[in-house]
Amino acid sequence: MFITFEGPEGCGKSTHSKRLKSYLEGKNHRVLLTFEPGGTQVGKEIRQLLLKPESVLDETTEVYLFAADRSEHVSKIILPALAEGKIVISDRFIDSTLAYQIGGRRLPEDLVRYLNMVSSKGLTPDLTFLLDVSPEIGLKRATQNGTADRFEQEALSFHRRVRASYQRIATDDAERVKVINTDDKSIEEIQNKIREIVDEKLGNQG
Ligand code: TYD
Repeated sequence: MFITFEGPEGCGKSTHSKRLKSYLEGKNHRVLLTFEPGGTQVGKEIRQLLLKPESVLDETTEVYLFAADRSEHVSKIILPALAEGKIVISDRFIDSTLAYQIGGRRLPEDLVRYLNMVSSKGLTPDLTFLLDVSPEIGLKRATQNGTADRFEQEALSFHRRVRASYQRIATDDAERVKVINTDDKSIEEIQNKIREIVDEKLGNQG
């Protein structure tokens, strides 16, 4: 089973993916928790290029770098773990590219979808959590340590487009993408909802 966490800046993906991993391990599942960009050796260097504020990247270069990162990630980390029977949880995957590079950057949809297909080797998550948050609240959370990466430095309008784009993805694929709004919910409430949905999915898979 392949589960992904998605959402705008400061939505709490990292916290919830870690907690879900512990929960599932407590139920004797073997779990691999990974992330994009940067989940592989080469990916770490690609992540630096993508996130450091001094990087001045053409938008097409940017999407190719995300695709390169994913290609490494899928072939070297995700597919081998799934083949070993592990539950794989990834903090960001194909929907990030749709939301940020089509919604945020306004790159042509067919280009981004094609790159997603090639870089993911056609792999689609079984379940995706979209942790929704308003950009005002999310950006405040994400930058409270005093530093902002290249994406966090983007204008509010960029982050609004990313959020709207994520919401469209969820509407178009409601079976796979479960939306949880995090603005006014506690971490426990959100995590309980996530566990409930995962338990149901695992139950259905036998
Ligand atoms: P991440 O490490 O998840 O940062 P955070 O946890 O602070 O949100 O992601 C890094 C950034 O990369 C994030 O701003 C979203 C962006 N991104 C894209 O624009 N496209 C992509 O395909 C991916 C995977 C991430």
